[in-house]
Amino acid sequence: MSTQQKTAETAIPVDQTKAAIRTRLADLRSAGASIALVPTMGALHEGHLSLVSVALANADRVVASIFVNPKQFAPGEDLDRYPRTLHADLQRLAEAGAHAAFIPATEQMYPDGFQTSVEVGELAAPLCGRSRPHFFGGVATVVAKLFTQTRPDVAVFGEKDYQQLLIIRRMARDLDLDVEVIGAPIIRHEDGLAMSSRNAYLSAEERARASVLSRAIRQAAEAIEAGAKPAAALEDAKGMLRAAGVADIDYLEARRSDDLAALADGDGVEARVFVAAHVGGARLIDNWPVRARSKS
Ligand code: PAJ
Repeated sequence: MSTQQKTAETAIPVDQTKAAIRTRLADLRSAGASIALVPTMGALHEGHLSLVSVALANADRVVASIFVNPKQFAPGEDLDRYPRTLHADLQRLAEAGAHAAFIPATEQMYPDGFQTSVEVGELAAPLCGRSRPHFFGGVATVVAKLFTQTRPDVAVFGEKDYQQLLIIRRMARDLDLDVEVIGAPIIRHEDGLAMSSRNAYLSAEERARASVLSRAIRQAAEAIEAGAKPAAALEDAKGMLRAAGVADIDYLEARRSDDLAALADGDGVEARVFVAAHVGGARLIDNWPVRARSKS
């Protein structure tokens, strides 16, 4: 597909180079339009498309990026088998009302000699940062590049990857990137499983088993809201996962929503229950809000 080509099928302009997207967005900006960016790795589903809707509500023009970022995969992770569905993705973006897609090749993003990266701080220490130490530095680096390449007024990220959302928001503030980072709610399947590109790895049996993740964190969140001690509620939730055949639990923790500090008993603060677990060949993550309880 050539740069700036507008195919009849997708009716969405596609830019594959930094120069092309920069020109397109500079033209829009000088015509007075505000711009929203929705960064993705493709294999788009309703969760991604909900971010496009939030973006449309917050800016005049919406550009979605699709880039499977090698810097956020460790050797042995799923970079090579990550689902790639570009044709369908472009169609979905067009239907969702996005105005342009930015689909850079790896050489565009990381040319020969590339050696600079963003170092993230304490927000990246717990949860996914503990089991995937390379991960958030890789995410922050690519998102910082996407922000400088597209210079959006706002950028939309899903609460599905809640730790990522907090880290990107912090980075935008710390590095004066001058972009408002907006969080969007988690979109789920009917049985509660959070939508994810990685759900494509699940067999029918694993897919059915995976629905226990959201049930377990919801139960833990509701128990904590009702006054249970977080440690006890989390143990019960782990038992629920194991009973359903999900034994490989990476973490199941309750943490404060603002800074991800561990949730002390009777805290009276907004919190979330976070889970990561392996189901078949997929590592799935999810989280559920715990409403603040006033101290009694
Ligand atoms: P990806 O996993 O493709 O997700 C892109 C965006 O979609 C993220 O902001 C993610 O939180 C959001 N998202 C995914 N599933 C969702 C769901 N069920 N409901 C709501 N939002 C959902 O996250 C990444 O890509 C990458 O790390 C990226 C930020 C693009 C950097 O490479």
